Amino acid sequence: QTKFFICLALGLMASFARAEQFQFKNYRLVNLLPETPVHVQLISEWEENAEFDVWTRIKGTNERVTVLLSPDAFLKYSLLFKLFKIPNSIVEEDIQARIDEQQRSMVLTKSQKSIVGKFARYSEIISYIDNLALQNSDIVSSYVAGTTYENRNLKVAIIKTPASKKKVWIDCGIHAREWMTPSTCIWIINKLVTGYQNFEPEVVQLLNYYEFHIMPLQNPDGYEYSHTTYRLWRKNRRPIRGNCIGVDLNRNYGYKWMTGGSSDQPCSDIYAGPSADSEAETQAVENYINKYKGDWATFLTIHTYGQWWFTSWGYTYDDPPEYDDLKAKAKIATDALKAVNGTVFTYGSSAQILYIASGGSDDWAVGNAGIKYSFCLELRPGQTGIDSNYGFTLPEDRAPMVGEETYAGIVALVKSLMP
Ligand code: ARG
Ligand code: ZN
Repeated sequence: QTKFFICLALGLMASFARAEQFQFKNYRLVNLLPETPVHVQLISEWEENAEFDVWTRIKGTNERVTVLLSPDAFLKYSLLFKLFKIPNSIVEEDIQARIDEQQRSMVLTKSQKSIVGKFARYSEIISYIDNLALQNSDIVSSYVAGTTYENRNLKVAIIKTPASKKKVWIDCGIHAREWMTPSTCIWIINKLVTGYQNFEPEVVQLLNYYEFHIMPLQNPDGYEYSHTTYRLWRKNRRPIRGNCIGVDLNRNYGYKWMTGGSSDQPCSDIYAGPSADSEAETQAVENYINKYKGDWATFLTIHTYGQWWFTSWGYTYDDPPEYDDLKAKAKIATDALKAVNGTVFTYGSSAQILYIASGGSDDWAVGNAGIKYSFCLELRPGQTGIDSNYGFTLPEDRAPMVGEETYAGIVALVKSLMP
């Protein structure tokens, strides 16, 4: 009997804890296949509405678009799909079930001490870096590159030996809901530090030439909000106007800002901000990169999902400078990545492969900072194939394999850039 009451109490507590979080009950994930330019036009217009939450934006005809719709929005838009004859299919009947599944996957590892391979919270990530620096003061240090609107630190973990010559930039978590990316940055940090301390020849060789500057959480305010309140939040959390909150940091960078694929509507999920470089997070990264201008071997910014290894440009369909060389390097990286778990990445310019989007950090790194080897990664799952219907809600137990394959890709890339 006591057992029963304990269970009841725990159950109630669990539902109270969950009650604070926005519930995506019966929110449906729907695939659309625009067949005509009119379809493309309509979908691009709907994308401006907050109730039409695109997980993968519109590219063109015969290219799939995945969108999340509330039960009400589903009723409304399914009529429109019918009216305009836009082929559609439901991928997932209840996205909350996926979110719950992801939450359950995290409960299992809650008692584990190490955050490596987990979806850690902001404070855990900060203390992880601080402890790592304390315990490995020979090669690890940290730097606060800026503070956010809600006063969180934008921390960079720096892994360097006295012999290192060139710098590698890696950032994760620019989009709040992309939980698999901070865990991947942490995975990479852990691989480098433990590898060096264990005298692994490959890592020693790497760290004799490169120093790694890794920001695991570029959008901590949004990230925390996605943990506590609204799982699918994307932007930062700065209030803009009325009840519109947040800027899409990957539309805010000051190169060809607002020239396409971004919105001037503060409520939009791809809102570019009131002006270029208006956000503390954007400024922090730009200032940090500018501080060491000329030292960067590569600039890597990590998103999920899609299984792409993007080169610039994002703002135009034009080829970036030395496109053939960039693609050759991307091929080396994606081949190495595939060798780990068989995960296939497609590579090429993000505008050509995905869609036009201006104000991205990858474009800024090329256009303003002059870093030729700038890449934007979209981790697994892909848009089709294994795990594809999980999208952002891929369970936590996939984090080690995602971390491991991404690490392999990045190692192969930077090795190929060594003289
Ligand atoms: N999914 C990313 C985004 O929408 C892709 C960005 C690719 N890079 C770019 N500069 N467009 O932000
Ligand atoms: Zn993203």
